[in-house]
This record gives sequence, C-alpha cells and structure tokens, in this order.
Amino acid sequence: MVYQASPARYESMEYRRCGRSGLKLPAISLGLWHNFGDTTVLNTSRQLLQRAFDSGITHFDLANNYGPPPGCAEENFGRILREDFLRYRDELIISSKAGYTMWEGPYGDWGSRKYLISSLDQSLKRMGLEYVDIFYHHRPDPETPLEETMRALDSVVRQGKALYVGVSNYPAELAAQAIDILNSLGTPCLIHQPRYSMFERWVEGGLLDVLQEKGVGSIAFSPLAGGQLTDRYLEGIPSDSRAASGSRFLNADQLTEEKLNKVRKLNAIAQRRGQKLVQMALAWVLRGDRVTSVLIGASKVSQIDDALGMLENRHFTAAELAEIEEILL
Ligand SMILES: NC(=O)c1ccc[n+]([C@@H]2O[C@H](COP(=O)([O-])OP(=O)(O)OC[C@H]3O[C@@H](n4cnc5c(N)ncnc54)[C@H](OP(=O)(O)O)[C@@H]3O)[C@@H](O)[C@H]2O)c1
Repeated sequence: MVYQASPARYESMEYRRCGRSGLKLPAISLGLWHNFGDTTVLNTSRQLLQRAFDSGITHFDLANNYGPPPGCAEENFGRILREDFLRYRDELIISSKAGYTMWEGPYGDWGSRKYLISSLDQSLKRMGLEYVDIFYHHRPDPETPLEETMRALDSVVRQGKALYVGVSNYPAELAAQAIDILNSLGTPCLIHQPRYSMFERWVEGGLLDVLQEKGVGSIAFSPLAGGQLTDRYLEGIPSDSRAASGSRFLNADQLTEEKLNKVRKLNAIAQRRGQKLVQMALAWVLRGDRVTSVLIGASKVSQIDDALGMLENRHFTAAELAEIEEILL
C-alpha cells in the first residue's frame, strides 16, 4: 500500500528556530544510529519513520557510519525514502555526517577535505539524494587544520550538496573557532550536535553559552542516555533492550545501583508531574530554550509516542528543578 502521511501531521509538534538561521526544527527529531541497519527488519525501520513523520517529526539524522554494517542505515533509509517519502522530500530535513572511520586507508576517517567531500558523495549515493539538508563534521580532528575542515564544509554548500553545515562533539573553544571560520567564509554554522542529557551535562560548562552568543542552534543527542533515563531498566535488563544487545555504548556495567537509584527518584518526580520519565527527561533538556531539538532514538513505535507526550508538559517549577538537581549531583 502506498504510504499517505497523516493530514494531521503538523497539528501538535512545536517547531523551533535553529539559532539565528531561517530554519526551524521540530522539538523532537529522530536519529537513525540504531534500528536502521541490516540487523533490523526493514519494516520496523519503515514504521518508525512513518510514525515520526505522521507526528510532525520532520528531521531525520544519519551519518556515513550508521548501520550495522557502516553505510547500511543510509542505504535502508534511501530505500524507504524512495518507496514512501519521495513526494515529501521538501517537508524533510535530512542530515548526515563524516568524521569517524568509514573506509580503509588514510582518507576514510577524521577531517581532511579529501575524506569529507568523498564521504558526502558516498552518502548521497546511498540515500539516493541530490543534497542533504545538513552536513556535519562528526568529531574534531586533532591533526587536520580546522581551516581545511571548515573550508570543506563551505565547499559542499557551494557545490549544492548540502544546504547547511554543522559540527558535532566539538568542545566549546574549538566550536567557537569553527563558527568564526565558517562565518568568514560566508557559510554560517547552522548547528552543533553534542551529547546532552540529565546524566551527561558537559555542554553546560561553556558550549551552550558560545552557541547562544554566536546564534548557532543545537540538537542534543542521546537525551535519554541511550535508554537509561526511562523505566526500561527498573526491573532488570529486558532481552530486547540496547543494554542486552552487546552494545559497547550501553551495557550492564553502566547500570549501577547508584544510577538506578537516581532513575527511580527521577521516575517518582515524573509520576508526580503526571508524565513518564522519558517525557520529563526530554523536557528537561529543552528547558531554558537554549537547545533547539532533542534527538531521540527508538526501537519501537510506542517509544516515539512516549516522546511526543513530552509536548503536553514542558514546564518545570523552580522547586522541581531544584529537586532534580539534588538527585543528579
Ligand atoms: N553526533 C554523535 O556523535 C552522535 C552519537 C550518538 C547518537 N547520535 C544521534 O542521536 C540519536 C539518538 O541517540 P540514542 O539512540 O542514543 O538516543 P536516546 O534517545 O538517548 O536513546 C534511545 C534508546 O532509548 C530507549 N528508549 C527510547 N524511548 C524509550 C521509552 N519510551 N521507553 C523505554 N526505552 C526507551 C530505546 O532503546 P532500546 O533499544 O532499549 O529500546 C532507544 O533506542 C542517534 O540515532 C543519532 O542520530 C549522534
């Protein structure tokens, strides 16, 4: 059956301006890091994308290396795009990145002009796209001159292969330099993509100030700490969860009793607020309006629905914020 997007898709989502740019992003965006590779049934990935788009989630985030195997998430996304979303292309913000190991030899990693431009060409082929909306440098490269990396980002915009560019995982000072170089080249930095959640708060130590001052947006990845900031692990480790999957990013060792205790206390506050912990954790990242969008992952359609419920209660009292702060200390 041909996919028809819901006519109600723009009724409940909040769209937020990305820094001082002309682009608005949905308050919730969907990342394709997990659950879009060859180990996931294609129909599951399709259902996640459809549910997201039907709910006003217009932004899908990819990278060259998402899979497994690397490249596969872009290929699978490309297929679903062709089959279901082609006529909605202009309603979508699709991003990709390069910066981690992608192919053998000295040109398949880090931040050289050679790597970034070749990698984006490959990503476009895999997804069957003429351009991506946002192209990121995925992580800082300690060896390549920053100027070269930023010039490569400027080039892909001038070549029409990306509409906007951004950086990811850049510490505050380096981000400030990158933003300045991009401005001087005439291609403003649209966005920074850092990890940010109740359990990972490094961005509060200067990065958010830099971005605000320079008018650059931000999209917080892993806002649920990979699933830790949910009720997923309160009764043990379910067999279909990320922590049970052998992931090196989330495993049983990280789910310490101390952490689970914090999760239990946070869960109690969320219940008092009449929402799920997932919803409170996402609303917390968006508090203060310095983060443009939260970039979630999902293995089930119901997880997207849970995240959307956040939009019904984004407000915190000062007392609630103080109580949360106490727990996170
Ligand atoms: N720039 C970078 O370096 C970088 C790095 C990492 C990620 N990212 C981006 O950020 C995106 C999101 O990362 P993430 O997947 O780590 O984000 P996350 O939102 O912190 O974690 C998502 C996981 O949490 C669990 N979950 C979600 N909703 C739930 C619910 N309602 N109840 C119970 N469990 C729930 C699911 O895991 P289960 O599998 O257990 O169901 C889901 O896959 C990625 O797809 C990628 O686009 C970027």
